Order: sequence, then C-alpha cells, then structure tokens
Amino acid sequence: MRTALLLVAALAGCTTARASEDVAAHVGERYITIGTDALPTLAGHARLIETEGDHAVVAVDARDLETLSEEMHEVFHRCGGFMVHDSLDDALSVQKDGPKKPIEYTLDHGALVRAVLPKLQEQSILGTIRELSSMQNRYYQSTTGAAASTWLRDKWRSFSTRTDISFELFDQGYAQRSVILTIPGTTRANEVVVLGGHLDSIAIGGRNSNAPGADDDASGIATLTEIVRVLLQTNYRPERTIKVIAYAAEEVGLRGSLAIVKEFKKRKINVVGALQLDMTNYQGSDKDIWLMRDFTDAAQNAFLVRLIETYVGATWAFDACGYACSDHASWTRAGVPASMPFEARMHDRNTAIHTKHDTLEMSDENAIHALKFARLGAAYAIELAKGDTSATIPTDEPDAPDRWVLFAGLFALAFAARQRAKNSAMTIA
Ligand code: BES
Ligand code: ZN
Repeated sequence: MRTALLLVAALAGCTTARASEDVAAHVGERYITIGTDALPTLAGHARLIETEGDHAVVAVDARDLETLSEEMHEVFHRCGGFMVHDSLDDALSVQKDGPKKPIEYTLDHGALVRAVLPKLQEQSILGTIRELSSMQNRYYQSTTGAAASTWLRDKWRSFSTRTDISFELFDQGYAQRSVILTIPGTTRANEVVVLGGHLDSIAIGGRNSNAPGADDDASGIATLTEIVRVLLQTNYRPERTIKVIAYAAEEVGLRGSLAIVKEFKKRKINVVGALQLDMTNYQGSDKDIWLMRDFTDAAQNAFLVRLIETYVGATWAFDACGYACSDHASWTRAGVPASMPFEARMHDRNTAIHTKHDTLEMSDENAIHALKFARLGAAYAIELAKGDTSATIPTDEPDAPDRWVLFAGLFALAFAARQRAKNSAMTIA
C-alpha cells in the first residue's frame, strides 16, 4: 500500500515531494496524518479517527485535499503539513511510527569535503565500469548476475581492513543478491543515509543475453564504488550511519529496492535520505547534472543544488522521468526523501541501454562525466552524515605495539645470528 506526501509544491515557495499527484487527483475517502494544532482548520472538511500525542489521523474527501493544503499553507505557513495515505491501515501505521522530523540540510563540513573530492579518480571509475560491463550480463536470475554480487562485495571489502564496517549480501529469493555496505555512525547511528544504484542489467534474451549495461547501471555502481574507496581509505567516520546499496533486480520492477525498503521498515531502520545513481556516464545534454523532479523530494533536491554549486563545479538543471524510473521511487513511496541526479535530459537519453550496445564506447571510453556524480555523491554523504576522519579506527592489522614487538624480535634474531657468526669465525681462527 502506498504512503505518500501530498503535493503542495504548487504553492509558492513550497518544497515538498510530488510523489502523489495522482492521489490528490482522485475521488473518494483519503486518510491523512496531521498535527493536532491544525485540527480546527479541518473543521467541516474531515472526520477525526484517532489522536496520539500531538498527531491525529483523519478521514477527508479526496476532492477537499487541494483546499486543505492551501488553508494549511495560509494558516500555518507549512509545506507538506500533512501526509496523505490511501488506506486507513497505512495512516494508522505511520501514526504509530510517529511523524518524521524534517531534516536540516546544512553545509558545514567544507574542509572535509574539499579534502576528499580531489582523491576521486576518473580512472578508477572507468576500470570498474570496464570490469562490470565485460560480464556476459548481470541479469537478476543468471549465474553471472549472481557472480556480480560477490565480485562487488569483495571489491568493496578490499578497500579497508576496518572491522566496524560490514558487507552484506541481501538474499531476495533469486540468484542475484543486493550488496549492502554499512559504515556505522558515531553519534547518530540510528539515522541512516543511503547511497544506491542498481547492479543488474537487462537486454532481450533474459539470462543468456549479452547485456553489458555499461551506462545502465555499471556507471552508477562504479561511481558508488569510487566514493566507497575514497571514504574508506581516508578513514571517514560519519555521525549518521551510511549504507551504500547495490540493488539487485531493478530492471524487473524495482524488486530489489522494494524488498529492502520493506525489510528496513520492518526493522524500523530510520532512513533520513536516499540518493540514487542510475546512469552517470553519458553526457547527452548541454548541462551536466539533471535532477529528476518526480518521485523525489524537493527539499533534498534543493540541498543537492547547493552541493553542486558549492563543491562539484558542474552545471545542472531539473528534468523528470515521467514515471517511477528507478529505485529512488521505492524510497519515495515509503516517505523517505529521495533524489535522482541523472546524466542527461530525458529527451537526450542514451538510447543504447537495454541492448548489447550499452558499452563504454557510448561514453568515448572515459568516465569524465561520472566523476562529477562521484563528487556530488561524496559531498552528499559527508554533508548529510557529517562526521570526520579519525586516527583511531578498529582494524584487523597488528597495531603499533605489536609492530614494535615484531621489530624488537627481528632485531634480537639478527643480533644473535651476528654473534654466532662472530663466534664461529673466532673458532676457525
Ligand atoms: N536506468 C533506467 C531508467 C532510466 C532510463 C532513466 C532512461 C532515465 C532515462 C532503469 O534501469 C530502467 O530501465 N527502469 C525501467 C523501469 C523499472 C521500473 C523497471 C524503465 O525505465 O523501463
Ligand atoms: Zn534500465
């Protein structure tokens, strides 16, 4: 069942998710969760179902939603002042979870972002795209699709010996598994920032097809991989928990991400933001980064704009997919602020995707375009999850005292050998 924020973005200055334009358009009863302070404004429009703390669930006529949002804006100067649900169960379960606190988007980790960004390398991204796209396919039900998961998990694992980081293969009932890397947060570990892309590829022919998927979406996975490499190698320790997710089975109906969103909801994992990197390496348009407006969160998109202008040094504009085109939509449906920065205007998209021609040739055998998205993704991770680099990281490697013991032992052995040599020389003489 769908839970979605009401469209109030049409109101001047509002920055709210547009996920449910369709919800507001229909007739019939809808259920909303709203602050109890706003109940008098609803008088005459709504039927109160229950209140809990400072929040209430009320039933409203779908045709009144627009007037209601205008009134909310006038009286409370609130954007997205209430959430619309299309079943009572959905509304009551959100009520139980409690309303989400709006995220504060601040840019105050400039020194760290500026230390990290120059370490991101185009050649590393290119190498990963080359490796992923040289697999026969990464279809969700093929053996090569399954192998892609373990290959990626091992690649991410090779970047660090830190023992606080986990690398999980998330089983979803088919050959390919999603890969989830977790960097635990230090002071706000129960708030999670997700960076994702999809690992699977597709072309006509199913599990036997040649589906290189260099752009769709080896480019996104390679971009994420470079962000992971640099964050881990600089010993980054976020305040909020970061999860980097390579979703399985996106091409067959967002199945991997929908299952993960469901599981996270069940485990009450509080995701405060999700960034989707799906297709980052084909420069099809005059501007560099295209922020998809639909099925995304306008406030988080505005944060991305600030990140691009402050740190990335790329040109940008807004566009729309026109449908739930990738895994960001799974998060949006669950009420999580999500964004989808894209490589080109929809109109100028890479037409080789989903065929055997989706190769690096379409990107002139370089990853210059994808590097801009790596810069944006790293800036997003750091400015949303905050934190710092740390000298004291838990690792499996021998720490300093062990090394000294080893060094002293070697020295003692060398000294003893030298004495023995001296003694035997003396004996011969
Ligand atoms: N990467 C594409 C989505 C895309 C393609 C966005 C072109 C913008 C331009 C994604 O992997 C995909 O193919 N999605 C499916 C929909 C999904 C729900 C199965 C699609 O677009 O058909
Ligand atoms: Zn696709």
